[in-house]
Amino acid sequence: MRVLVIGSGAREHALALALRRDPSVDALFVAPGNAGIAQHAEVRAVDASSGEAVVALAQELNVDLVVIGPEVPLVLGVADAVRAAGIAAFGPSAAAARIEGSKAFAKDVMNAAGVKTAHSEIVDHPGELDAALDRFGPTWVVKDDGLAAGKGVVVTPDRSVARDHGAELLENGHPVLLESFLDGPEVSLFCLVDGETVVPLLPAQDHKRVGDGDTGPNTGGMGAYTPLPWLPEETLTAIVEDVVKPVAAEMVRRGVPFSGLLYAGLAIGQAGPAVVEFNCRFGDPETQAVLAMLDSPLGELLYATATGTLDQVAAPRWKDGSAVTVVLAAENYPGRPRSGDVISGAESTGTGTESEVLHAGTAQREDGALVSAGGRVLAIVGQGKDLAEARKNAYDRLAGIKLPGGHFRSDIALAATEGRITVPSPA
Ligand code: GLY
Repeated sequence: MRVLVIGSGAREHALALALRRDPSVDALFVAPGNAGIAQHAEVRAVDASSGEAVVALAQELNVDLVVIGPEVPLVLGVADAVRAAGIAAFGPSAAAARIEGSKAFAKDVMNAAGVKTAHSEIVDHPGELDAALDRFGPTWVVKDDGLAAGKGVVVTPDRSVARDHGAELLENGHPVLLESFLDGPEVSLFCLVDGETVVPLLPAQDHKRVGDGDTGPNTGGMGAYTPLPWLPEETLTAIVEDVVKPVAAEMVRRGVPFSGLLYAGLAIGQAGPAVVEFNCRFGDPETQAVLAMLDSPLGELLYATATGTLDQVAAPRWKDGSAVTVVLAAENYPGRPRSGDVISGAESTGTGTESEVLHAGTAQREDGALVSAGGRVLAIVGQGKDLAEARKNAYDRLAGIKLPGGHFRSDIALAATEGRITVPSPA
């Protein structure tokens, strides 16, 4: 099978490595890719947001499957264009991608499916902001009601911080979404979904704040781990049966069946799992840890999803043990990150069993030096027989990497390793 992956981050690097391990994948292309991905796949330039450009590249490369990584091309209908050209696409239609692209659509689907989620209101006029804030909080959850790569979210006990963020979004022409705060540990559950067929992958947990101890502003994600030793099996079953399957069924009922990766972000509170958000694609940086644990051929799973035959393939098998991803970010991330810093010690072998370095924001300078070219620069994945060993392997590998001004969290998966995460008992 010839496969083209669209995207340029560490998530796409992880997808590329997992696809390369699948013996049925005999040609692998990534567009636009990055300097690390170029070591493992043929990298091609493309305007990832243009259906026409992606179709032209897929036809030139004569691929059997296009895997679309990021949300923006999906929301813009790139998967529709690929399917219309007669090529299998892993990723939902633009209509189904609204589960991530339109908060109002997502809430409507969840309400119709009877799925628990935060109460929310959209504010699109500065004059309405104060009264709306008074109906929420404390704690306030203020989001950009559009695609903002996680960085448009402020969660704060301080009303003036919430107000300032809402006012700034409105000043820049972005409607604001206010949500009630959902308490409890967070879970990211990725499911392959083909209509009403739902196949869960391993549950993971992201670390969204920039600083240790969950301090500082939200980011796209500073690290993740899988599986979750603290998550009871029955809660996982409840997420699949009472959240993801009803949402998938509701989308079929509405005539917008979901095909691709449905990412449920949940908080596990006293009243059970409640949805924080749905995304229409693999999450970053959880994917890097989840795919490190996959022991089944990824190409077969993605192709079956894309061609409506997911119910005919064996459920994914997983390695024993755990995986931990630690993100190395550029100076000033998540503000305006500095780029062009020289990185050393970040060679990606593509075969790492204890640890692997995945590239996110990297580029190769004309003189051949590897330099930073984005906010999240690298994702270091450690594997081990348990979380403690996986953590150690990730941080040991990170210690050998140099990036001037680079920063990372030192506590990824630490609370779980120390048994400090608990699921609240039912009220
Ligand atoms: N893990 C956060 C995201 O992918 O949106």
